[in-house]
Amino acid sequence: MGKEEKMRKIHSLSRIALGAAILGAGFMNANAADETIRQLAKERGRFIGTILNSEWFNDDIEPEFQEIHKTQFNVVVAENEMKFDATEPKEDEFNFEKGDKMIKYAQANGLRVRGHALAWHSQVANWVNNYSGQKEKLLAVLKNHITKVVSHWKGKIAEWDVVNEAVNDDYNADWRSTNSVWYEGIGAEFLDSAFVWAHKADPDAELCYNDYSLEWGLREGSKASFVVEQVKRWKANGIPITCVGTQTHIEIAHETTPQNVRALAKALAELNVTLNITELDIGFPKGSAGKLTEADYAKQGHLYRQFMDVFLEEPNMGEFVIWGLTDAHSWLDEQQGKTEGLLYDKQYKPKPAYDSVMASLKAHPASEVKTPYSETVLNPPKDCGDESCGDSIIAIKPSAIANNISIHIAGRTLFITGVIAGKNAKVDVFDMQGRPIFSTKCEKGRADLSSITEGLYVVRVHDGSTSIVKKISIK
Ligand code: XIL
Repeated sequence: MGKEEKMRKIHSLSRIALGAAILGAGFMNANAADETIRQLAKERGRFIGTILNSEWFNDDIEPEFQEIHKTQFNVVVAENEMKFDATEPKEDEFNFEKGDKMIKYAQANGLRVRGHALAWHSQVANWVNNYSGQKEKLLAVLKNHITKVVSHWKGKIAEWDVVNEAVNDDYNADWRSTNSVWYEGIGAEFLDSAFVWAHKADPDAELCYNDYSLEWGLREGSKASFVVEQVKRWKANGIPITCVGTQTHIEIAHETTPQNVRALAKALAELNVTLNITELDIGFPKGSAGKLTEADYAKQGHLYRQFMDVFLEEPNMGEFVIWGLTDAHSWLDEQQGKTEGLLYDKQYKPKPAYDSVMASLKAHPASEVKTPYSETVLNPPKDCGDESCGDSIIAIKPSAIANNISIHIAGRTLFITGVIAGKNAKVDVFDMQGRPIFSTKCEKGRADLSSITEGLYVVRVHDGSTSIVKKISIK
């Protein structure tokens, strides 16, 4: 079957068939339709997500992919489309088309966006090598690249991997000094400069150092301990780093790695830096394909569970990103000699690993999970420059709580105290995308919300002159 014919066939699936496929895949193991990873992550002030594979950007992926992606996750990253060779294929000629497609999708579906990656020795456009060893020229090239890319998506990309994989693979860790056009031409200054330029282009974006093998522990000479030392130096010198990303491409045998990630989180907490898991996959050796047993998948689930436990228990962890959604599309098979490392199998059916992630989320109630993010980061005002926002959506901007006014929920009753309580103030309830779902009046300092189903909402109480906005959880 030709590619076009195959795509036609996929897209001609009736809506009903597709809906059934999605229900089967996305919700099979969740008891209620609203119980998704996404919802539980959001309630906990955290972001859990996966990449959009390159096949998605090329419209060459099964329709289940996007349906599951937007239903189950609340953070997204492009597999290849924001890398140097994709965004600046010719000198000073930028191509933002595919990245823009992802931003549009993310905005329409309320997803946080990670930008990946600005300064990396790999996937650099070929033309850069024409300037090998020319320090001033390479500094100008990197500055121009970072400034133009970050400025283009200013305010739309919450967090950038500013520098990726700059540490070498020796057991006496230091910067990667070979096969890196940036290090060989510029020296370690390229890292510090990259953070400064990115910050200048978007002062509100979180800026990360991202690398692999950071999950191998903090022993002397390890990548992780080297990175912690560099973060200390950066912080002491005012370099605007806010986060470290541990890629965490591991194998089923790497049983101690979750605890190593915990130790790294604790070391970074002392430096006031967030740790994110940015590219997790837990692969089996490729040769085991077709021979895996239930016990193997359970073991994989157990490892996913441990990573999720660590993630939810460490207060300075914010994002948990898996490098792929379905085993049908994964760099593990294509390039890594590994297989089946993700949450969904090749037929988009959730694996035991999916259940483990959900189980961990449920075992860590929202009231016990701390978030490293502010309210505005968690619930950013919707950017309605894009037609996908629709007219009926009200942008909720939580206002500062006036001293003498407060609201709190107990059961299904909203209690309102302070100046607006006695004046028949209006109570409006919105869903987390800002859509109005319920309105009533405050009577004697109370409002009855018993008709609203369980979930997370934003409530606004206002009397014409004063208003208060708060996020509430109805149980
Ligand atoms: C990988 C992509 O998945 C592949 O499609 C591409 O051919 C090579 O890069 N660390 C990273 C990611 O930071 O960008 C890599 O992604 C995986 C390893």
